[in-house]
Amino acid sequence: MEQKTVLIGVTGCIAAYKTCEIVRGLQKAGVRCKVVMTEHATQFVGPLTFRSLTHEPVAVGLFDNPSDPIHHISLAQEADLFLIAPCTANVLAKVANGIADDLLTTTALSTTAPLVIAPAMNVHMYENPATIYNMGKLEARGVRIIEAGSGYLACGDVGRGRLADVSDIVSVVLAELGIRRNLEGRQVMVTAGPTVEPIDPVRYLSNHSSGKMGYALARAAAVRGARVTLVSGPVSLPKPEGVRVVQVRTACEMLAAAEEAFAVADLGVFAAAVADMRPKQVAAHKLKKGESDSALSCIELVRNPDILATCAASKGRRVIVGFAAETDDVVAYAKGKLASKGADLIVANEVGEGKVFGADSNQAWLIDAHGAEQLPLMSKDRLADVILDRAVSLLP
Ligand code: PMT
Repeated sequence: MEQKTVLIGVTGCIAAYKTCEIVRGLQKAGVRCKVVMTEHATQFVGPLTFRSLTHEPVAVGLFDNPSDPIHHISLAQEADLFLIAPCTANVLAKVANGIADDLLTTTALSTTAPLVIAPAMNVHMYENPATIYNMGKLEARGVRIIEAGSGYLACGDVGRGRLADVSDIVSVVLAELGIRRNLEGRQVMVTAGPTVEPIDPVRYLSNHSSGKMGYALARAAAVRGARVTLVSGPVSLPKPEGVRVVQVRTACEMLAAAEEAFAVADLGVFAAAVADMRPKQVAAHKLKKGESDSALSCIELVRNPDILATCAASKGRRVIVGFAAETDDVVAYAKGKLASKGADLIVANEVGEGKVFGADSNQAWLIDAHGAEQLPLMSKDRLADVILDRAVSLLP
């Protein structure tokens, strides 16, 4: 799934500090957050706080950004969703009536993205017929209002007006964006990248895996709420947000890390391209041409452990997704691996001639006990989602 951008409007209310938690909650689900504040909001939380959390510039005044003379339009266009949280009675009234007298309200009027509003205010303001009327007006226009909760309010009154729970606001926004959280409370282990098997201190055996497929799977699982351990061979990809990464080099190191993570996992996804063989002896010094030519021209190999099959041997109720990288007879070989390795699902791909390894897209087959389904060519991010949809349906 492509990364979504949520523009968060913060207004002048004591609950503005809770918006920091909303930002973190959305970021954990892989959402990019940008913040726009009213002048009054900056009295409660400084723009620097949101700039530090989002790593994005924070907009306040209509004319703050001299390089962008129509800032409200560019902000509005960037957003997949505009959330105003907390939203005061004043800003609620302005948005309901199309008043645009600062950057936040001008952006709200010019965006075509879905608008979600989480009001927070004093109980008497919340229950005032004017506010109730304005909320009704907004809902009639398709704006999603997240009702305020009840309890002790900062002003000392008791009643309705507290900003809704941060987790409820995050859930509503993710649902509006179409982001599923169906791996919440689950643990997922993913292997990714190549392994490298040393010959001597400067040479090794390896393959062309870039790690893109495995990293896309780890990222997508984290977005769905899973606690993810990514056991990664050497790759040059950034660490996915909210994922625990265990760096390994050899197949034996990958086996140890994968077994540990798989022991507590609900789902294991084996996307790594593990070297099937490794040199029997690793020379302590660089092998020299000439004097030890035989050592370089004839390297004795031994079989590496099969990480997937080893984990599958103690599978229990866990779900296992394996991959099959084939150059020919893709489906037939993959069906064989489904049975021989003890996987619930095999993602088969045809590799070679610049295909799949290192690419951003892949055309794969999903193979399970019921048969084979050929998928269209799609990005690895999209494929990760398709694989996880199937894996989730297999979880007990
Ligand atoms: O990393 P990318 O550039 O994005 O490329 C993605 C990919 C081609 C690496 C990926 O889509 C893929 O196909 N990964 C599996 C590659 C592979 O080693 O396939 P295999 O058919 O040899 O192995 C079958 C399965 O057993 C795989 O799940 C593999 O991780 C696992 N295996 C294999 C050998 C071994 N010793 N231990 C294993 O766990």
